[in-house]
Amino acid sequence: MKVLGIESTAHTFGAGIVDEEKVLANQKDMFEPEEGGIHPREAAEHHYQQARTQVKNALAEAGLEPGQLDGIAFSRGPGIPQCLEVGAVTARALSVKHGLDLTGANHCLAHISIGERTTEAEKPTTLYVSGGNTQILSFRSGRYRIMGETQDIALGNALDKLAREMGHPHPGGPEIERLASETDEIKEMSYPIKGMDLSYSGLTTEARRMHEEVSEKVIANSFQEHGYAAAVEALERAMSQEKTGNALLTGGVAMNSRLREMVEKMCEQRNEDAYFPPQEYCMDNGAMIAHQGMLRLQNGEKLAITESGVRPDWRPDEVKTAW
Ligand code: ATP
Ligand code: FE2
Repeated sequence: MKVLGIESTAHTFGAGIVDEEKVLANQKDMFEPEEGGIHPREAAEHHYQQARTQVKNALAEAGLEPGQLDGIAFSRGPGIPQCLEVGAVTARALSVKHGLDLTGANHCLAHISIGERTTEAEKPTTLYVSGGNTQILSFRSGRYRIMGETQDIALGNALDKLAREMGHPHPGGPEIERLASETDEIKEMSYPIKGMDLSYSGLTTEARRMHEEVSEKVIANSFQEHGYAAAVEALERAMSQEKTGNALLTGGVAMNSRLREMVEKMCEQRNEDAYFPPQEYCMDNGAMIAHQGMLRLQNGEKLAITESGVRPDWRPDEVKTAW
């Protein structure tokens, strides 16, 4: 089964194609604001301008005509409503024009299932850390349950904010990583965990207040050490409770080598496996939506056009997964 997947939840417009054996295409373009964070209307405009090109490029990369596809999937939520609409409209139009089955993917679950597809992870306890989400998920009785999550802003968003305040460009995560790598010094900060829940808003404010006394690299390093350690501790608690035996790290922040190192070390001590998808599948991408769409269509989960509205607040634990 060949499925085209469209991703448009936030800053990335992606189009990917998969079948059971291979990722046949994975094309994308990222909206980069000139200043500040993502403005929903501007990001949506970017997506409208990119939609045709990215879909065309994906079909060319796969060497397919639209009529050779078996289905089409779009990222239905969670995400920025205006951005989600672009993906939904594109998918509906292609579905009607070429007579293709339509289905909607949950973005968070898509991050997990492409992780399972591209590594040896099996129903892993997952630390999903990106610009919009920070969650720890574990599979139980047919659903990925949210074991813990941020109570305010996402870890990636916190990194982006901190970098922006220091005058560095978006995305901030790689900038903070680069600064942190220049020192081993760590200043004590608060440790943002409660049970398996996290909180990054206060830590960001605290980091900003350190600006007068401490250098940028020490702030960056201290933020990483505290913020990442708390996330990994929440992951460890969930692993210990759920006994899934393996962990997956995904989302844009999963590209961070210090965070990877911490997850690896924790799993090593527990004698359990840690999995890290290749970078192109950690960040938002169309292939993960195509893969999730394929699993759904194989399970008969088609969506009628009239019922294909976007779901900006769609939580992953609302979805009963047969796959
Ligand atoms: P989602 O829709 O899942 O919330 P997103 O729109 O935030 O995703 P992603 O591509 O998954 O998009 O993640 C982007 C985030 O990843 C940004 O906040 C960025 O700063 C962060 N990031 C990217 N590279 C690194 C890195 N090396 N270290 C830390 N954070 C990083
Ligand atoms: Fe994402």
